Order: sequence, then structure tokens, then C-alpha cells
Amino acid sequence: MLPAPPAPPAAPEAAPRRVSVEQAATDLENGLLVAIPTETVYGLAGLATHPVAVRQIFAAKGRPVDHPLIVHLAEAADAEPFLDRGRWPDRGARFDALAAAFWPGPLTLVVPRGPAALDELTAGMDTVALRVPAHPLALALLRRLGQGLAAPSANRFGRVSPTTAAHVWAELGPEQRVLDGGPCAVGVESTILDLVEPGAPRLLRQGGLPIEALEERCGPIAAGARRASGTLAAHYAPRTALRLSADPEAEAEALRQQGLRVAVLRGDPDPAAYARRLYAELRAMDGLGVDILVAEAAPERGLGRAVNDRLQRAVTGSGRGHG
Ligand code: TXA
Ligand code: MG
Repeated sequence: MLPAPPAPPAAPEAAPRRVSVEQAATDLENGLLVAIPTETVYGLAGLATHPVAVRQIFAAKGRPVDHPLIVHLAEAADAEPFLDRGRWPDRGARFDALAAAFWPGPLTLVVPRGPAALDELTAGMDTVALRVPAHPLALALLRRLGQGLAAPSANRFGRVSPTTAAHVWAELGPEQRVLDGGPCAVGVESTILDLVEPGAPRLLRQGGLPIEALEERCGPIAAGARRASGTLAAHYAPRTALRLSADPEAEAEALRQQGLRVAVLRGDPDPAAYARRLYAELRAMDGLGVDILVAEAAPERGLGRAVNDRLQRAVTGSGRGHG
């Protein structure tokens, strides 16, 4: 008879800290930070109206304080204390229409700031960014709390955003509390629209909601940022050097001829499928120890625009080594 198989090893000391919705709510109410799942990427959340928690978010990420945070809400009605309708000639009809059409969903709206928005949150600006995430656990938590959560992506500043709980622990350590909601369905951050001025909405960041869908609903969107904030050219950066190519296999072959070790990130005819796996693959490839990564450019439509935007920024910020 075969000997009994050995007992499974005891759980390691530094088991990653996975919390339930109820535990997450209690921890947040006590001013602690909890990483939360959203449909786009994981966020590092603290109570939006708790100045100490908000300051701790910046510290945990190593993020400069002049990069304001997004407030996550359970529903559009919860936006009222955070916004100032008096600064809109139409009292916010355009905001209401976009929120009704796309929330919950991967759209962040920058609006005139109301009394509930702390200076710590907005970097002292007179505007605030709001969104209702489309993830059942995030929504359950927000409803249970009955108040907004400030949450940037749960990565160290300038690094690739996490799309699984394991990525969050890799970025912030196993002691970080995480509400594990599985892999993110969209995979790139939300689209950010600036609604502050009465003219056409301005696109501040390409993201999970395609521009085509927005323009179909609300007409032309103006390009470019009224403010430069948070749109750094070097962002989402792997440590290994990265190139973007329309023909990655040929490019990789040429680099191999030069004696370089190369890994290739293949795209997908479906840009949404490419977006979903983009960050996980960049992160995995960054761990291979090769000399250079070559990523295939996405088709310039739908989520492909956000994929190319992130890849372009990753190219700019990449190759600074594993220090
Ligand atoms: O999908 C997402 O948006 C994720 C998930 C967690 O919700 N969050 C996210 O947050 O990507 P973060 O902090 O990594 O990026 C937020 C961006 C930054 O570029 C910031 O500068 C910009 O939003 N932002 C925030 N408030 C703003 C404001 N009042 N005006 C202009 N830009 C703002
Ligand atoms: Mg981020």
C-alpha cells in the first residue's frame, strides 16, 4: 500500500490579506485602506471624506499630491454633495445624461467641485472626478458604506495598473487588504471626460469606454486636456525596455539577430480582448528577464485607442531597470 500523501504545508506567515465586503466596510470606516475590484483595474480605496485616509493613499502609492483622485460612488444620486451645479448654465443636464447612459461603467466625469470634495482629494483644484464602477463587489461595498470612496489604481506610482488581486499584493505587499473580485473585465482604466466648461466635453484620458460610444450619445468630444494633470507621457511603465510595432515578429527577429533576448506581446483582432489581458501580460513579460519587449499595436478603434495610449506611455517610461 502506498504511504499516505504528506500533509499540505501550513499557510505561510505572510498569507495575503483577503477581506470580505463586510470586513472591507468596517476597515474603511476605521480609516484604513482596502484595495477594491472594479471592472477596469483594482483601486486602492479609502473613505473620500476622511482626510487622513486620503493622504495615506498618496503615501502608499508614492504618488505626488498634485495628482487628484477619483471618487467612486454607488449611484449617480450620490454625486450631489461632491458637485456644484451652480457653475453650469444648464445645471448639469449633460452630466445627468451621461451618468444615466453610462453609469455604472468605465467613465469618469470631471465636474465643478462641491462641498464634500476635500482639498486632499482634488489637489486643491476647483473640480473633482467622479465615477460609478460596474463591479458587483465594489457596488455592494459602496452601498453598504453609503458614502464615496477615493481610489486611484492600486499600483505604485508610474507602474502598470493591477487587474487581479495577486497584482495588488505584488505592488503593495501581502499585508495590503484586498477585496478579491477576480480578474477585471475591461482591463484598462476608465475614460475621463471633463464636463467643467459649457462647450463640448473634453477627453482627458482614453479608456474603457470607447469614444465611438460616447460620441454616438453626446456628439463630438474635444481632444486634449484643459489641464495637464495626470496625463504624464511616461506612465504604466514596465522595467524592461519596450517597443511598439505593427509587425512585432519581424521586429523581434531583427533584435534577436543583434543578440538580444526578446519577448513579444501579440495583439488581438478584438481590441477589447487585447485590453483585458494587456496589463497582466506586460507584468508577466516584465518578469522574464529579457532585454527588450516588443508589443503589437492595436487597431485604432474602440478599446484599441486606450490600448495604444497605454502602450505608448509604457514605451516612454520603460527600460529604467529593476531598481
Ligand atoms: O478606471 C479607473 O479610473 C481606475 C479605477 C480604480 O477606478 N482609477 C484610476 O485612478 O485610474 P488613477 O488615480 O490611477 O487615475 C485617475 C486620473 C489621474 O490621471 C488624475 O490626474 C485624473 O484622473 N483626475 C482626477 N481628478 C481630476 C480632476 N479633477 N481633473 C482632471 N483630472 C483628474
Ligand atoms: Mg493610475
